[in-house]
Amino acid sequence: MTSAADPLTLVLVGPMAAGKTSVGRRVARRLGVEFVDTDKRIVAAHGPIPSIFADHGEPHFRDLERRAVADAISEGGVISLGGGAVTDAVTRELLRGHSVVFLTVSAEAVADRLRGSNRPLLSGEDPIERWKRIFDERRGWYAEVASATFDTSRRPMQKIADEIVAWKREQR
Ligand code: S3P
Repeated sequence: MTSAADPLTLVLVGPMAAGKTSVGRRVARRLGVEFVDTDKRIVAAHGPIPSIFADHGEPHFRDLERRAVADAISEGGVISLGGGAVTDAVTRELLRGHSVVFLTVSAEAVADRLRGSNRPLLSGEDPIERWKRIFDERRGWYAEVASATFDTSRRPMQKIADEIVAWKREQR
């Protein structure tokens, strides 16, 4: 069982539009713990992500993200990270020793989910090609931090969430 001294912590990582937020929210509900989306925290404190990238650059965003990840981990619960959080070595170090789930998704499945999205790293020509290239660049980092991998391409998000909950319960 979880107690204040032993907070349940489960971190979700993976490429943009892998379903980290929707799966994370469902997992947290099932486990009866808080859900934190670090992107949402950053937006609440610093404004829209495209503006942060445009006004201060990606390195500044990664600084804010690193701090948001550190705070969230110290609080515990289910935590969804932005797709690029793993590019930062200190953030990867913060994840060490925690349950980290890597959500994968195929490029075909992601095409629909990206429509209408406002992600600065995918703006411009051919967002799917960019998405693929960025995912390929980061694959090794996701694998490095992950304790388990689940694919979200086909199944309902609730089913994936249930499988993650079952996996997490086996760990404890
Ligand atoms: C980013 C992913 C985004 C957000 C920002 C940068 C990335 O989060 O953090 O736009 O570098 O992959 P999602 O993975 O939730 O789209």
